[in-house]
Amino acid sequence: NRVKIKTLLTGDALTGSEVIVMGWVRNFRNNQFIDLNDGSTNQNIQVVVALDLLDDATRKRITTGASMRVKGAVVPSLGKGQKVEVKASSVEILGDSDAEKYPLQPKKHSLEFLREIAHLRFRTNTFGAVFRIRHSLAFAIHQFFNEKGFIYLHTPIITASDAEGAGEMFRVTTLPTDNPPRNEDGSINYKEDFFGKSTNLTVSGQLEGELGAMAFSEIYTFGPTFRAENSNTTRHLAEFWMIEPEMAFYDLEDNMNLAESFIRHIIKYVVEHNYDDLEFLDRRLAEEEKQLPQDKRSEMGLLQKLEFVLNNDFERITYTEAIDILLASPAYKKKKFQYEVKWGVDMQSEHERYLVEKHFKKPVIVTNYPKDIKSFYMRLNDDGQTVAAMDILAPGIGEIVGGSQREERLDKLEERMEQMHIPAEEMSWYLDTRRFGTVPHAGFGLGFERIVLFVTGMTNIRDVIPFARTPKNCEF
Ligand code: 4AD
Ligand code: MG
Repeated sequence: NRVKIKTLLTGDALTGSEVIVMGWVRNFRNNQFIDLNDGSTNQNIQVVVALDLLDDATRKRITTGASMRVKGAVVPSLGKGQKVEVKASSVEILGDSDAEKYPLQPKKHSLEFLREIAHLRFRTNTFGAVFRIRHSLAFAIHQFFNEKGFIYLHTPIITASDAEGAGEMFRVTTLPTDNPPRNEDGSINYKEDFFGKSTNLTVSGQLEGELGAMAFSEIYTFGPTFRAENSNTTRHLAEFWMIEPEMAFYDLEDNMNLAESFIRHIIKYVVEHNYDDLEFLDRRLAEEEKQLPQDKRSEMGLLQKLEFVLNNDFERITYTEAIDILLASPAYKKKKFQYEVKWGVDMQSEHERYLVEKHFKKPVIVTNYPKDIKSFYMRLNDDGQTVAAMDILAPGIGEIVGGSQREERLDKLEERMEQMHIPAEEMSWYLDTRRFGTVPHAGFGLGFERIVLFVTGMTNIRDVIPFARTPKNCEF
């Protein structure tokens, strides 16, 4: 009858029974009360150790961080904040924790400090909440697509193609790094590599996903992706997870509708299943924001923001409209933007955040971007200038989704690839989907950590992935 602490604390069913609980000591008070946590919930179970139960030597070993196994009776609690507690009949210390050396004390630590001891930070309330929510989001993602009949397709991590054509790839090679075999012109001879050609870690599973959609109609991928962009921001990782649905017989409108209902579904799931963790993070955020000047604080609390997203449609505007709004904005007139605003130039995060935080105050889907700032596979619109792209921008973050209707017309796609110097011979496998039974199709990619940021209200992407990979940061 080993029980998780969450089970103990929710519902009265166990009151009166004998249980075994195991976990780590958060705090030991008055030589009698242990706050024990096993990671199943932010709440600790209070374990009451009668003064005559343990000898002094054992009692001294009950320190913050120590692990233990407790046997006892579940009894109603007189203390406030909890319905039940465990009256211990036996306590066994499984692993000692030197109180002098243990970095986590029963007090609030800064996120910066916790990032430095990332190997222990799971044991804090904040990271406990964040990673339980991350787990729930992942589960809800599979649930959403499974219920809709999408096939979960595993696309390769090692690939020879650059899906985004952005060149920000980690090279995978089995050649010696100090003295690789060379071609006559001095370039590295990848023919002698294990794979016989130059390969890299995937930046996106989309192109392979399209192959799946052309057979299963609706697929999704959900896996790690890699970008060697050497940017130190609070929203970029070198290794991040992405969810990429790809659907045959969908146009841009269908794509937007799916993305919106998808995001709503997973937020709803977390609100229903992780309410206590969200409440904790809501309080945490409110406290953090108290330190900020009035005009930097969010207008809504975390739970309020999530409820708002569940109950309100996203705004939908074209790129051209977005640029017009920016050009007419007080921020532009007062020269508050660092980067240029001009039709044809990609929006920077400051522009995206202006649109969602100041102008619309809700998530926004921006469509029909200029073709020259988007990838080769996006479908050319009739104007010949824009493509059927869609980005979803979220308050506090900026871009969370990038997607498009795909160019299904072979001649148009080949023309675009040629303009962008993408070698068609190497992409013959991709072009085959347009040669044999091509159909209108669309898809998008949701950055998993970006949505975890949004749902948890955390502000640094390093704090929503268990082991962050960022420039100069790969300790373990
Ligand atoms: O906009 P991106 O580059 O689009 C694609 O990769 C498409 N192939 C997706 C598709 O249509 N199937 O990336 C998609 C999303 C971004 O909107 C962002 O949320 C996230 O992936 N993302 C990152 N997240 C964390 N760190 C990074 N370095 C990221 N780069 C992109
Ligand atoms: Mg993008």
